Amino acid sequence: MNPDKNEHKIRVWDLPTRCFHWVLAICILASFVSGKIGGDAMVWHGRFGVLALSLIVFRLGWGVVGPHYARFAQFIKGPRAVLQECRGQRVREPGHSPLGALSVLALLLTVAFQAGLGLFSSDDIAFDGPWSRHVSDDIVDLATRWHLRLQWLLAALIGLHIAAVLWHQRVRGHDLLMPMFTGDQQWGRDQAPSARDDWAIRARAVVLFALALLLLSYLSR
Ligand code: HEM
Ligand code: HEM
Repeated sequence: MNPDKNEHKIRVWDLPTRCFHWVLAICILASFVSGKIGGDAMVWHGRFGVLALSLIVFRLGWGVVGPHYARFAQFIKGPRAVLQECRGQRVREPGHSPLGALSVLALLLTVAFQAGLGLFSSDDIAFDGPWSRHVSDDIVDLATRWHLRLQWLLAALIGLHIAAVLWHQRVRGHDLLMPMFTGDQQWGRDQAPSARDDWAIRARAVVLFALALLLLSYLSR
């Protein structure tokens, strides 16, 4: 290993954040595909949707107890920082940019609403969301209508998200993609701190995710 090379890299995305991201992306893709297939695939649709919701609950907790760059307090900035970035006046920093942070929040919230509405939805044939039996038919109809509508907003946000990553890559020359796989970005260690990514912090993530999954699985029996 070349030590000089490592002096110009810092850990930005810890392993739990990277796993969260790619497992979430797979769950959302699987939820779309199984939802469109319908029929017997709806059982898996429900499972992938509940897993996606557990991941969001995990990420909300990780935004508070996770390492430096995963914390909401680190990357959520005020409107002034967002405007500065839009005008190209902001100096680049590791982690999510102020504008990127808005898209992260929009994605997290939309996935949470989509999966939350799914819990109250019904296809009126063979599959009912587990919470639909606790509410009136009117509420089930409303939730199903909005579940079917919100899929388009979610698809648009994901399309925008991928386009923004590619735009940064091609136009700005900022590689955002590889760090989501390796965890590292090119910064001098004197410029910014490296995020903690040791086994103790990973164990903390496993406990948090297990709690989120148990809670959601129990509530959506
Ligand atoms: C269903 C699909 C996807 C969803 C729901 C999604 C959602 C998210 C979320 C919530 C984050 C914030 C990560 C965090 O702080 O925890 C994020 C970041 C990121 N995503 Fe995705 N993502 C999806 C697909 C993709 C794909 C296909 C790519 C590859 C082109 C990608 C590349 C990235 C990158 C590079 C970042 C880090 C951006 C930055 O440096 O600020 N995502 N994504
Ligand atoms: C974020 C996760 C989810 C996504 C992306 C998603 C997306 C979709 C999509 C694309 C459809 C098909 C819409 C169409 O026919 O055009 C659908 C239908 C449906 N989803 Fe989800 N869903 C998610 C979570 C859930 C969950 C957790 C449940 C319940 C456990 C659920 C229950 C349903 C039901 C009952 C339908 C059938 C509605 C109908 O055909 O009238 N979904 N969903």
